[in-house]
Amino acid sequence: MRIDKLLSNSGFGSRKEVKILLKSKAVEVNGETVRDPKFHVDENTDEISVAGEPVVYREFVYLMMNKPQGVISATEDRFDETVIDLLTEGEQRFEPFPVGRLDKDTEGLLLITNDGKLAHELLSPKKHVDKTYYAKIDSPVTDEDVEAFTQGVVLDDGYETKPAQLHILNSGAESEIELTITEGKFHQVKRMFESVGKQVVFLKRLSMGSLTLDDRLAPGKYRELSEEELDTIKQRK
Ligand code: URA
Repeated sequence: MRIDKLLSNSGFGSRKEVKILLKSKAVEVNGETVRDPKFHVDENTDEISVAGEPVVYREFVYLMMNKPQGVISATEDRFDETVIDLLTEGEQRFEPFPVGRLDKDTEGLLLITNDGKLAHELLSPKKHVDKTYYAKIDSPVTDEDVEAFTQGVVLDDGYETKPAQLHILNSGAESEIELTITEGKFHQVKRMFESVGKQVVFLKRLSMGSLTLDDRLAPGKYRELSEEELDTIKQRK
């Protein structure tokens, strides 16, 4: 990897800033001063230091965000703010992306990482990773709906959903529910309720696999995953 990329990813500023740092002769690789931004280093074996301090290289970033409404879960968008726009420049240098999509008006748990392998495993339909949502529904939710979701419902495009667990928290003119699904079809929760003649009026993802939204995170806030969260999500997927 190029030394400028490694230093930039390790928090030493933009590529431009790193170039200035290199020019100032502050950077050493295996005891030799390196000034060329294109200089190639082996991040696993080379000893790299800046102003005499060893550089601890990290390849991946793992962030848990409480996605706010009104923000798109994509890396870029011509019109709307994206979840990546909410990150610092330093975090953006890792080129992270959201793992899966939440609708613009959906809130809640979003994992943001640059670890493509983990993202693939969490999103692979073969892995059946559970996703639990909290939702408000525009009308009473019934035991028949619970049964229908357990059996699988047919969406507007003819797709039959896999068994899903529906818990009614309260049923009334505006109901509250929790729903666990193992798939990730486009607008799946909203379309499942539409199939039983009801509308989702608020949707929030609470968990994905072993990862549960930290309820101390206000919408729009995020934090790094703990070691423990990372270990369990990597093992359990
Ligand atoms: N299901 C939906 O309908 N929307 C989401 O954002 C996530 C799941």
